[in-house]
Amino acid sequence: MTAESGKGLEQSFANVADNYRGQDVDLYAVFREMRAKSPIIAEDFMSKYGVPNIAGYDPDRPTFTVFRYHDVMNVLRDAENYTSGFIAKGLGSFVDGLILTGMDGEQHKKARALLQPVFMPAVVNNWKVKVMDPIIRSEYLAQLQPQKKADLMEFGLHFPVRLIYSLIGFPDDEPELVNQYAAWALDILSGPQVNPANAAAARERAMTASKHLYDSIIERVRAVRAAGSKGDDLISRMIHAEYEGRALDDHEITTFVRSLLPAAGETTTRTFGSLMVLLLERPELLERVRQDRTLVAKAVDEVIRFEPVATFKVRQAARDLQLAGMNIPAGAMVQCIVSSANRDEEVFENSETFDIDRKMKPSFGFGFGPHTCIGQFIAKAELQVALNAVLDLFPNLRFDPEQPRPVITGAQLRGPHSVPVVWD
Ligand code: HEM
Repeated sequence: MTAESGKGLEQSFANVADNYRGQDVDLYAVFREMRAKSPIIAEDFMSKYGVPNIAGYDPDRPTFTVFRYHDVMNVLRDAENYTSGFIAKGLGSFVDGLILTGMDGEQHKKARALLQPVFMPAVVNNWKVKVMDPIIRSEYLAQLQPQKKADLMEFGLHFPVRLIYSLIGFPDDEPELVNQYAAWALDILSGPQVNPANAAAARERAMTASKHLYDSIIERVRAVRAAGSKGDDLISRMIHAEYEGRALDDHEITTFVRSLLPAAGETTTRTFGSLMVLLLERPELLERVRQDRTLVAKAVDEVIRFEPVATFKVRQAARDLQLAGMNIPAGAMVQCIVSSANRDEEVFENSETFDIDRKMKPSFGFGFGPHTCIGQFIAKAELQVALNAVLDLFPNLRFDPEQPRPVITGAQLRGPHSVPVVWD
């Protein structure tokens, strides 16, 4: 990586963080109050916190917001009544094509059935050993080890894109391209802006990034197909995927792969940052996890509940509906506050405690129902590998006493901005 391309990536990440930061308030205290007193309201709740309209919905439509676990679950599980098609007009407008997250009904079911097998644990566990572990250790942590100090977010910013890049099937000898892809993916995420003064330029940047990504990916897809697509990578597997006699064409594979880059990078980066902050704030817990690696998976599951990256998800009512005692008219938007539902005291004991020993129940950090994150096994495997490797290679890991303590912030996308650490 050159200094310049590394800086480009850091700048793009900072732009995304700025755009989605919103107001700095104690959101969890606000959510607690809403769960207790007003679990459903006829308002676009999150717009008060200065976050961009990522969903591309019409702000003049009636909007409802729900805060409790069972209401959020009822919306997310019911994709027939609460649809996602409008997403294709928001963030989806930068990445048109096979975009699962903005599909509904039969179209979504069929596309998902085609792609799902490629993302199942049996496939992912193989990648964990063969791809993820060696790349994380040899390309990143081994080089950091002698420095005895680092900002873990610098590592966290790079490894998820590097891994997805490799899993997709790009050649391993072009490190410059990985950074370029990561920066393009972040430019797409910066497309919808809160500040109208930035809107046109950001949109232009997102469209350009999207086109560059398309051109580069389709070239690779054609090359893999021409070479017989015999590999273990995602592109080869997608070329062979079939459902009800239908297979994917090059355009579909390209647009799906392109949508994976923003979905797989930023989310994993932020979750890794939050995971490290929550463990470093609790040195005894960190030591327990170091000693007993069966706890690594539990720590990863608990961070997904306790600090979900995306604080909310939005759906649109397909018809007149009833939700938590309110009438929701057809066409209305429903904002599901995932960060609130994941800490609902009626469902999770000591819900506001980061407790890796808790009995796990479904939570919504990877979504829920038909649109549940298709990459969740990849994300969990990457986070487990990263935490294990950090614990193996950085003994006595602790916050850098000379740097400010990191905090997890963000009204829409949450995570720390830096995680300065030292080790022996
Ligand atoms: C910690 C990391 C991640 C988090 C927190 C996360 C979170 C989510 C969430 C909340 C959704 C549901 C969206 C909705 O309901 O509208 C989702 C969907 C999705 N995610 Fe992830 N994700 C992560 C990593 C990944 C990775 C690594 C990949 C790909 C390899 C990926 C690919 C996708 C795709 C394609 C969808 C759309 C699924 C559908 O609509 O059927 N994600 N993700």
